[in-house]
Amino acid sequence: MKNVNAVLGLEYGDEGKGKIATYLSEQADVVLRCTGGNNAGHTVKIDGKKIIFHLVPSGIVQDNIKAAIIGNGTVLDLDVLISEIETLKELGYDTSKLLISTRAHVIFPYHIIEDNLSELLKGDFRVGTTGRGIGPAYSDKMNRIGIRIIDLYDPNFKDKLYCNVQNKNDIFTLYDRQLIDFDKLYEKLERQKEYLLPYVTDTIAYLHNHPEYKIVVEGAQASRLDIDHGDYPMVTSSNPTIGGVLTGGGISFQRINKVVGVVKAYTSRVGEGPFITEQDNEIGDLIRELGHEYGSTTGRPRRCGWLDLVALKKAIEVNGITDLNVNHLDTVGKLESIKMCVGYNLDGELLTIADDKIIGHENEIEPIYEEFEGDFDASHITEYEDLPEKAKTYIKKIERTLNVPVTFIGTGADNKDMIVRR
Ligand code: IMO
Ligand code: MG
Repeated sequence: MKNVNAVLGLEYGDEGKGKIATYLSEQADVVLRCTGGNNAGHTVKIDGKKIIFHLVPSGIVQDNIKAAIIGNGTVLDLDVLISEIETLKELGYDTSKLLISTRAHVIFPYHIIEDNLSELLKGDFRVGTTGRGIGPAYSDKMNRIGIRIIDLYDPNFKDKLYCNVQNKNDIFTLYDRQLIDFDKLYEKLERQKEYLLPYVTDTIAYLHNHPEYKIVVEGAQASRLDIDHGDYPMVTSSNPTIGGVLTGGGISFQRINKVVGVVKAYTSRVGEGPFITEQDNEIGDLIRELGHEYGSTTGRPRRCGWLDLVALKKAIEVNGITDLNVNHLDTVGKLESIKMCVGYNLDGELLTIADDKIIGHENEIEPIYEEFEGDFDASHITEYEDLPEKAKTYIKKIERTLNVPVTFIGTGADNKDMIVRR
């Protein structure tokens, strides 16, 4: 049965995946997170109430949802997870629907120290991570010294953790970092694992046992942060592209129906790394203010620039995008004129898709822009027909160039501020 709709970010994150995932969840049975950890920050605004999710799929707020699943491909900071569950309980949401995969990996405090140490040691080559221990947790997973949720309940857990803590402390001693107090950590984990036990499930078996359930996958991070398909090494440590959905959720490709790619009408990026259409100037500052582009996880001001169709083409091919969701159309309408990158000039050669020719040459590329009239009001519009002509022209250009329908258009911060074209 083709009943999985995936929502994936196509830029550098923060495209508004939470909003569309929440909307699609109205028609779903299950919402699922497959990759990443609390490096993600998904803000949804429901009836004026703002909630920021880091781990729990935001679709849990829908009454019709039977299960909100944190899949096996994720990495979990238990402090953050528990505090998110508590917040949801306080807000009156039914957290008994939350299922946490036995196979998800745990982020321990030593991963956070390692993340910050590694950034420091990289100097000018630092990634600008969220500092949440994501990279080191995934490294340990690949290095086969990771500890999964199910391992917390294993008789060998204490020994395994002890071994890891000893080895990490050896490195921290070398670099004069604060050491991990094993007994304190172990005692806290004993309490946390009891708290989490009711949520821990073989989520893969759950999904296999319910082939009829409609699933919405809430992507985290984005294509250009993908460890394989992004701007390596200025990326995150997982696969936020479609492959990560299959591995990180344990679902068959045969169940995939729609793959919705989420973008903003402009582009933003947090952290270091190339950004060909960046506007490190007054325009970028203006977009940041108009779009409230400050990180929901770290509060960092986001770098802002124009929409990049050359990079998007690659992301669309890698993910097999069937529909686009363009957010913040209202925001670009507040600018006098809007630019969109339609080609890269690399030393006289015209590139229309960001293939590997660009690697190492990002700074030499001259983006070729097409300019569009701004000064239109798209705020809170919910019907495509009601959009000003100038706004439609902008959307049509995206559709024509990328050859994918723009099915969803964001016109404001609230979950209701959305156009859905059928
Ligand atoms: P959502 O799901 C924006 C970025 C970080 C950094 C790089 C690596 O909200 O879109 P990491 O901590 O993952 O090792 O950092 O990736 N990054 C994000 N940027 N939104 C996110 O998630 C991000 N998750 C990671 O800023 O550049
Ligand atoms: Mg975010």
